[in-house]
Amino acid sequence: MEVKAFYWEGSFLRLLDQRELPEREVWLRLDHYKKVAQAIKDMAVRGAPAIGCVAAYGFLLGVKAGEDPKVVYETLKNTRPTAYNLFWALDRMKRALELGKNIEEEAKAIEEEDYRANKRIGQIGKELIPEGAKVLTHCNTGALATAGWGTALGVIRSAHYSGKKVFVWVDETRPYLQGSKLTAWELLKEGIPHKIITDSTAGYLMRKGLVDCVLVGADRITKDYHVANKIGTYALSVLSKSHRIPFYVVAPKSTFDMNSHGEDSIRIEERSQEEVKNIKGIAIAPKDSPALHLAFDITPPENITAIITEEDIIKP
Ligand code: MRU
Repeated sequence: MEVKAFYWEGSFLRLLDQRELPEREVWLRLDHYKKVAQAIKDMAVRGAPAIGCVAAYGFLLGVKAGEDPKVVYETLKNTRPTAYNLFWALDRMKRALELGKNIEEEAKAIEEEDYRANKRIGQIGKELIPEGAKVLTHCNTGALATAGWGTALGVIRSAHYSGKKVFVWVDETRPYLQGSKLTAWELLKEGIPHKIITDSTAGYLMRKGLVDCVLVGADRITKDYHVANKIGTYALSVLSKSHRIPFYVVAPKSTFDMNSHGEDSIRIEERSQEEVKNIKGIAIAPKDSPALHLAFDITPPENITAIITEEDIIKP
C-alpha cells in the first residue's frame, strides 16, 4: 500500500503528523501559511523533498489569502536551513507568481515532478542492488520524506517490486528516530524484510560481511558533490570506505545547489539540545548536562561511490 505524507485539498493542506507515527495516524488541517511554516519547523513533516512540496503549498495558501508574498516567502524559508528543496521550491513559486503563472498549478507540478523523479530514480537505482542484497539505510527517505515512493528507500522499493530479494538494516537514527519510527513503518506496510539497529551497530555488521551496500538520501548537494544529510551519514561513509562497501547517495536534481561549493558553503541546522536529552517528554540525561544537536553532517565526494538521480548516475 502506497504511503502519502500530504494531500492538497484545494483550500487547505492535509498533512500526516510524522511526530505521532508509528503509534497513531494523525492528520493535520493546515489552512494558513504560518501553520505550514510551523509544521515544517516542528518536523510534523520532514525530509527535504516533502518539505519543498509542502512549502510550495504554504506559499500558495499565503498568496491566496492576500498576504504579502515577500513575508510569506521569508517565513517559510526561515523554517529549516539545510534542506535545499525548500529554497528551490519557494524560489520556483516566487518566480511563477512574478511571471503571472497559475501558482496552484505550479505547486501541484512541484509535487507531481517529485513523485515522477522518485519513480525514475527507483528504476535507475534498482539495477545497482544485487539479488539477495543486505542494504543499510539511514534516517527516512521514503514516501513520507517525499511526494511519494522515496529516494534511497524508493530504490529499495523498486528493487523489491522488481522481484529482487532485498533485506534492509534500518539505522534507528538518533535523536529523532526517523529510521525506527518511520522507515520501519513504511517497510512493514509493504512487507519488505528488515531489522532495526542502533546507529552504532553498523560498523560491526560491515566487519561481519552483513552489509552489501549503503543507501542514503541527501538534504543538499553542492556543485562539487559534498552531501549534507542526516547526522551519522558521514560516519557511515567512512565505515563503508574502510570496509570497501558501495556507498550510494540517492537524490533528485532539486536537491542540487549549483551555487554552493565545498562543505563550508552548507549551513548545518542545529536543533534544540532537549531533543537529544528527552524522548517523548521522558528525560534520558541529567537535566544540567549540556548536549549538542547537529541535525546534519557533510560527506565529502571521495567517500561516495555514486549519486543516483532521476537523470543519471554520478560518480564523484
Ligand atoms: O531532519 P529530517 O528528518 O528532515 O532529515 C531528513 C534526511 O536527512 C533525509 O535523508 C533527506 O532529507 C532526504 S529525504 C528523501
